Amino acid sequence: MEKQIILLPGDGIGKEIMDSAKAVLLAIAAEYNHHFTFEEHAIGGSAIDTHNNPLPEDTIQACKSADAVLLGAVGGPKWDSNPAHLRPEKGLLGIRKALGLFANIRPVKGFSPLLHASPLKEEIIKDSDILIIRELTGGLYFGEPSERRENGNAVVDTLYYKRAEMERIIDKGFQSARIRNKHLTSVDKANVLESSRMWREIVEEKMQEYPDVTVEHVLVDAAAMKLITQPNRFDVLVTENLFGDILSDEASVLTGSLGMLPSASLRTDGVGMYEPVHGSAPDIAGKGIANPFGMILSAALMLRFSFGLEEEASEIERAVNECLEQGYHTADLQIQNGKQVGTKKITEIVLENLTTKSISDSICNM
Ligand code: NAD
Ligand code: IPM
Ligand code: MN
Repeated sequence: MEKQIILLPGDGIGKEIMDSAKAVLLAIAAEYNHHFTFEEHAIGGSAIDTHNNPLPEDTIQACKSADAVLLGAVGGPKWDSNPAHLRPEKGLLGIRKALGLFANIRPVKGFSPLLHASPLKEEIIKDSDILIIRELTGGLYFGEPSERRENGNAVVDTLYYKRAEMERIIDKGFQSARIRNKHLTSVDKANVLESSRMWREIVEEKMQEYPDVTVEHVLVDAAAMKLITQPNRFDVLVTENLFGDILSDEASVLTGSLGMLPSASLRTDGVGMYEPVHGSAPDIAGKGIANPFGMILSAALMLRFSFGLEEEASEIERAVNECLEQGYHTADLQIQNGKQVGTKKITEIVLENLTTKSISDSICNM
């Protein structure tokens, strides 16, 4: 298979973890006889530095014509006091919008060697397997106006959703539940927000189309509590943009670290951008200690969702699991008696685990 992949490393640890994902994809290409070509483009703070624009036009064009996009992370203290249009995050929001990537899929499933790495009790997190589906191109993130008023003494952000935007993401929630454990948790704040009341109405309407899926409405504050006290109640969780952002960082605690979570940002035709859930981690950037697994597992999701390469995707996940079983981990994971290593070393171990399999496969085939 021949595919062209755009790499948007971005800022901070984004660059460090992108190197890991690229190395893993090259190993997979060699093992399975694929031809992946990579083209790197600027986004975020580094694009502000080079292009005075967090999302240069050539980055948008390259992403539009590519088979898939991998994004590291954007942002950092250097740009934190920039005006709104010159903030790194504007680049990320802009590329999601430009590509129409309305569905952010955030699987939260821990690897068994990490059951003890979470601060939560093992009996609580054991067997949890949650798919968070976050609306990605609407809500407070994109509402106009968003501005200071009254000489800087008042402020307005606008929460705006079209019915059709809610319908398509809620549909995605039902469809995903249908092919999993047939339970959908819809998260809203319908006791306060009109937008949430419309959201809930749409969920109620759609229930008729998906009679095989059980539905539960949970208010977002209670959902935050239940995610870490009763994670096994959840199968698919669907919610709007800001709630999904917050709940997914919280849910990462189930897996041991925010650095473990991958995500896929999709539209209906399979085009996608793949990005870890975490950010640019300025506190550890440049130290070579970032956990590359959220990024590597995002590359696996790219193979699965955009290229239909299920075996290759599972092979990456297997190699990551094996690495953890061998006791290797980065500093963000609290593991007693583990072998703590840096980003490069843990990537090498994953690569060795991939190669070991291809060698043992070829011996079996002799
Ligand atoms: P963050 O996710 O960057 O970091 C939160 C904490 O988790 C930090 O202590 C960090 O060291 C740790 N962490 C995150 N990823 C890690 C990894 N892979 N390995 C080890 N530790 C990891 O969130 P933040 O500090 O609130 O934000 C920093 C910057 O990142 C901000 O500018 C923010 O806007 C940006 N951000 C970008 C994205 C993105 O590009 N998708 C996502 C979230 C935040
Ligand atoms: C994420 C990030 C982004 C978001 C920021 C950096 C704009 O937190 O991808 O989760 O809020 O969507
Ligand atoms: Mn976030």
